[in-house]
Amino acid sequence: MTEPIAVKPIAGALGAEIEGVDLSSDLSNAAFDAVHKAFLDHHVIFFRDQQALTPERHKAFGRRFGSLNVHPYVQGMDDHPEIMEIVKEPDEAINFGGGWHSDMSFLEKPALGSILHAIEVPPYGGDTLFANQIAAYEALSDGMKKLLDGLVAVHSASREYGTRGHSAQARQSMQASTTDAAPEYEHPVVRTHPETGRKGLYVNPAFTLRFKDMSRHESKPLLNFLFEHSREERFTCRFRWTEGAVAFWDNRCVWHYALNDYHGHRRHMRRVTVNGDRPV
Ligand code: SIN
Repeated sequence: MTEPIAVKPIAGALGAEIEGVDLSSDLSNAAFDAVHKAFLDHHVIFFRDQQALTPERHKAFGRRFGSLNVHPYVQGMDDHPEIMEIVKEPDEAINFGGGWHSDMSFLEKPALGSILHAIEVPPYGGDTLFANQIAAYEALSDGMKKLLDGLVAVHSASREYGTRGHSAQARQSMQASTTDAAPEYEHPVVRTHPETGRKGLYVNPAFTLRFKDMSRHESKPLLNFLFEHSREERFTCRFRWTEGAVAFWDNRCVWHYALNDYHGHRRHMRRVTVNGDRPV
């Protein structure tokens, strides 16, 4: 007999742990529908004790939601280019993902979601933080919402993957390449979620450079306000990893941040990224 699926929120703003799902098995349509609903309702969902999740099954779960991304700057596993190994060795200083961001917003069609599997976790620290960008948008005044509704922002990988970028410097274990001429793409500052129709903020400190038709200098005050506002504690949750745990977040409405507070210890994760559509 299969266990019933239970969805247990971990915070008021977003995040829920899902019990009764074995991601290494082929999910029935009913189980998939329950997981999909929890994903849309809670924006980031967590599964414990998924040690049996092989790279093949990890990809198969991702493919239930869409095609899989091959990261343009970070090399994937030899036999599984769609899986990124996110590793920080005990003697490395900089971690990957150690700043608030939404995955791949530097693409024309950014990521729908990312599915992160914990292979080896440090004895303490290394948590991941998440911030709900629908809640951040909804908390703004009507005047600010009206102003933002008409704005478009320019995103690029150049800041992170340029030669002096944070992600580029985390490449010791990650085999990342650098680019100082990454393409720029324009996305609306307020994005309508393609599945729920809810509006959320869609700018982030890692990849958003400026507003369209404005200089970086002109854009800075309002962008800085949004970056501060969007990560306020009331919009966040924090996940304490255990070996085998999986997190699946919706990049269309969630930021995340990998905490780098476990120097001297190893952390090893595997990430599958599901392709999304062009933000509107
Ligand atoms: C990332 O995908 O940005 C990394 C998240 C993490 O390692 O916790």
